[in-house]
Amino acid sequence: MKLNLFNAALMSLATGSYAWEPRGHEYRAPLPGASRSPCPGLNALANHGYLPRSGENIDLKTFQNAISGGYNFEPNSMDFVFELAVNFNLTTTGNPNTWNLFDLARHDEIEIDGSLSRNDIYFGDDVHFDHNVWAQTAKHLGLNDNRGPAKNRYITIEVAAKARAARVAEAMRVNPSFNNSANAMSGSPGTTALYLLTMWDYKVGAAPKAWVKPFFEEERIPYREGYRKPEVPLLFKDVEDMTQKVVAVKV
Ligand code: HEM
Ligand SMILES: *[C@@H]1O[C@H](CO)[C@@H](O)[C@H](O)[C@H]1NC(C)=O
Ligand SMILES: *[C@@H]1O[C@H](CO)[C@@H](O)[C@H](O)[C@H]1NC(C)=O
Repeated sequence: MKLNLFNAALMSLATGSYAWEPRGHEYRAPLPGASRSPCPGLNALANHGYLPRSGENIDLKTFQNAISGGYNFEPNSMDFVFELAVNFNLTTTGNPNTWNLFDLARHDEIEIDGSLSRNDIYFGDDVHFDHNVWAQTAKHLGLNDNRGPAKNRYITIEVAAKARAARVAEAMRVNPSFNNSANAMSGSPGTTALYLLTMWDYKVGAAPKAWVKPFFEEERIPYREGYRKPEVPLLFKDVEDMTQKVVAVKV
């Protein structure tokens, strides 16, 4: 009995400690003038100091440490994505081997129409979180409805895939110059796969709404809600596999 109580106390201590943000990687909203991107995943890394909080002059080494330190992506797993930004000549830093987060916003390179939380460039801003666009996505995700059975607290691949398809259909309807290339259209399921994979609860097999919400709305890694990076490093193959599952959902 005594031992059980002791164990329970230890466990709650341990659980409590998971809720703390790692020292030096506390969440801080960007200062005015900081560079941010259309990517909630990279912005969150900057908001926690895994990437420079300024969002500026990011080189490959810094990038590798950030995706590994923040989300436990294998350090080299996204080198080719870093290099995409280099090869598209997106940089404005004056150094061809570094870029600022804002540089990623140039339309039709990596940035595409029909994003989940950003508006299309046609409407003037493809970089900043857009409340109206996200409200639509959040509704499809049932993001703010946690009532009823425990499963209502999670986003499944099926629900995420349908929310993505609905958002792209809506963008195509309202944007007369919706001009995603075939390549970009395949990028959209990939971004859904990225947030699912990164915010995945491996014990449950779905993404907790309580994690996805601050990830998009505050660009915050949800340590306070119990997030911990996975023990096994994520590979790009995992992104591809999750993308296949997203694409396979009949919408
Ligand atoms: C580290 C893990 C990453 C995660 C979890 C992540 C997550 C995401 C998500 C969820 C979106 C969709 C946002 C939306 O539709 O509103 C997105 C978009 C984007 N990401 Fe990332 N990302 C990651 C890495 C990267 C990398 C390495 C790059 C480039 C170097 C990048 C560049 C972009 C860009 C440019 C967009 C905008 C695409 C669009 O217009 O919808 N991301 N990312
Ligand atoms: C980027 O710049 C290099 C050197 O100026 C050039 O050779 C290359 O074609 C450019 N790439 C793109 C995608 O514009
Ligand atoms: C796509 O549309 C945007 C405006 O929404 C425009 O600035 C851009 O030039 C278009 N790109 C192509 C390839 O037509």
